[in-house]
Amino acid sequence: MIGRMLHGIVACDPNGVIAVNGEIPWTLKEDVQMFKHLTAGNVVIMGRKTYESMNCEPLKNRYNIVLSHKKEGIVELISPWCIHCPDICSVIRKAQEIMELQRCGAWVIGGAEIYSLFLPYIESFYVTRVSEEYEGDVDIQETLDKMRDWKWNELFSFKNLATVYRVVRNNG
Ligand SMILES: NC(=O)c1ccc[n+]([C@@H]2O[C@H](COP(=O)([O-])OP(=O)(O)OC[C@H]3O[C@@H](n4cnc5c(N)ncnc54)[C@H](OP(=O)(O)O)[C@@H]3O)[C@@H](O)[C@H]2O)c1
Repeated sequence: MIGRMLHGIVACDPNGVIAVNGEIPWTLKEDVQMFKHLTAGNVVIMGRKTYESMNCEPLKNRYNIVLSHKKEGIVELISPWCIHCPDICSVIRKAQEIMELQRCGAWVIGGAEIYSLFLPYIESFYVTRVSEEYEGDVDIQETLDKMRDWKWNELFSFKNLATVYRVVRNNG
C-alpha cells in the first residue's frame, strides 16, 4: 500500500485559479525553477489535459504517468519515461513500483481533476499563491477547501509576486 506517500505541487491565484484556455495564466520563472528542482528524478503524475497543455511532451528527467480513461490520442506514450494509466489504481501501482526501483518520490502535478482525485493519497503540497487575480476556467478551490485544516507553513516569497507554502496534512 502506497499510503500517503505522494506529494502535490501547484500554483494558483487568490481564488484558486490554475488555468485559462489550457494554459497557466502567468509566467513566474522562479516558480518554474522550483518545480523543476523539486520534481527532477521523480515520478510526476498528471491528467490527460495537463499532458496536452504541455504539447504532449513528457517532462524531461522525470518518470511521467498520464491518467486518461482512453488510450486513443496518447498512443505515443510508449517511452519508458512516459506511460499511460487508465485508472487511479494502476497509477498508484506503477508509481509505487518506480519509487521502489528508483528510490525516488512521486509528485501529483495537476490539473484540478487530478489534484482532487489524488488528494487522499497526498501527504504534503507545495502551493505557490500568486498575488494577482486572473481570469480562469479551471480552479482548485474545492481542493484548497479540503486542505483548510492542514498545516500551512510559509516558506518564501518571489518578490511581491507570489508566496510559496509547504502544506502538510494534519495527523498524517
Ligand atoms: N497552475 C498549475 O500549477 C497547473 C498545474 C497543472 C495543470 N495546470 C493546468 O490545468 C489545466 C488542466 O486541468 P484539468 O482539471 O482541466 O484537467 P487534468 O486534471 O489535467 O486532466 C483531466 C483528465 O484526466 C483524466 N482523468 C481524470 N480522472 C480520471 C480517472 N478517475 N480515471 C482515468 N482518467 C481520469 C481524464 O482524461 P480523459 O478525458 O482522456 O479520460 C480527464 O479528462 C491545464 O490547462 C493546465 O495548464 C495548471
